[in-house]
Amino acid sequence: MLYLVGLGLADEKDITVRGLEVVRNAERVYLEAYTSILLVDKEKLEAFYGRPVIVADRELVESGSDEILNGAKDVDVAFLVVGDPFGATTHTDLVLRARELGIPTKTIPNASIMSAIGCTGLQLYNFGQTVSMVFFTETWKPSSYYDRIKENVKMGLHTLVLLDIKVKEPLLENLARGRKIYEPPRFMTVAQCARQMLETEEERKEGVYGPDSLAIGAARVGAPDQKLIAGTLKELTEVDMGSPLHSLVLLGKRTHDMEKDYIEEFALNKETFNAAWKKGYTAAS
Ligand SMILES: C[S@@+](CC[C@H](N)C(=O)[O-])C[C@H]1O[C@@H](n2cnc3c(N)ncnc32)[C@H](O)[C@@H]1O
Repeated sequence: MLYLVGLGLADEKDITVRGLEVVRNAERVYLEAYTSILLVDKEKLEAFYGRPVIVADRELVESGSDEILNGAKDVDVAFLVVGDPFGATTHTDLVLRARELGIPTKTIPNASIMSAIGCTGLQLYNFGQTVSMVFFTETWKPSSYYDRIKENVKMGLHTLVLLDIKVKEPLLENLARGRKIYEPPRFMTVAQCARQMLETEEERKEGVYGPDSLAIGAARVGAPDQKLIAGTLKELTEVDMGSPLHSLVLLGKRTHDMEKDYIEEFALNKETFNAAWKKGYTAAS
C-alpha cells in the first residue's frame, strides 16, 4: 500500500494517531520536502516517529517516483506531506502512477493552510479562488494571479495568497553547465508579497486593489508562535512577521461585521485599519 500521510502544519506532534501508526508500520518513510516545510527539522521527526525518514525532493517525486513506489505492492510505503496531502498541493500524479502499477493507495488527511487560515476569523465560506505568488525577478513578473483576485474581488470574496518557497532549486547557470548546485532556501515574506501585489496593480492599473486595501498577514499558522497582523497593503509592505512560513489574505468587500470585529484585534494600527474599513468596506461605499 502507498499511504499519503498529512503531517499538519507546525511540528512533529501534529501527525494524527492514525498517521503515526502508518509511519511506525511502514517499510519505508518518505518526506515530501519542497512544496511546504514543517517548522522543525527531519531529525526531530525521526526521533518522535522512531523511524528513519528519507527526504524526497522535487526531483525524486517528479522523476524518480518508481523508486518511491518500488515494492509497494507487497509492503507499505508512507509518503509524508506537510499540511494535508491534497490541500494546495496535489500529489495526484504519484497516485496515478501507483494506480498504473496496481498499487493500492490510502490517504490520511490532516489540517491544511487552506482550512487553518480560518484562525483569522474570516469565514472559509467567503473565500474565492486561492492564488500563488511567485518570487518576481527583473524580467519575470507573472500577473495571472491578479486576474484570479479580480474575479474574487468582483464577488466580494476574500483571497488566500500562498507564497513562494524555494527549497533545493538548482541555480539556472549551473543547470546550463550540467552541474547541480542549489540555491540556498528562500521563503517569501508577507511584506514581499504585499510589495509585489502593489507593483502588479501599478502596472495593470485595473483598480482591483490598492495601497489602502485591507489584508491580513499570517505567519506560522498552527505553531505556538503563530502571528497574525491586519493592515492596509501599504502597511504590510513594511511589516516583519518573523520566520517562515507566511501567507496573506486580501479582504473581500463582503466582509461581515463580525469578521471585521475579529480581525480588528490583529490590526497593526486600529486607526488606519478603521479608516480604510470606512472608506472601502462598509455598505455605504
Ligand atoms: C503549497 S502550500 C501548502 C500545502 C500543504 N499541503 C497544506 O495543505 O497546507 C505552501 C504554502 O502555504 C502557506 N503555508 C503553509 N503552511 C503555513 C503555515 N503554517 N503558516 C502560514 N502559511 C503557511 C505558505 O504560503 C506556503 O508557501
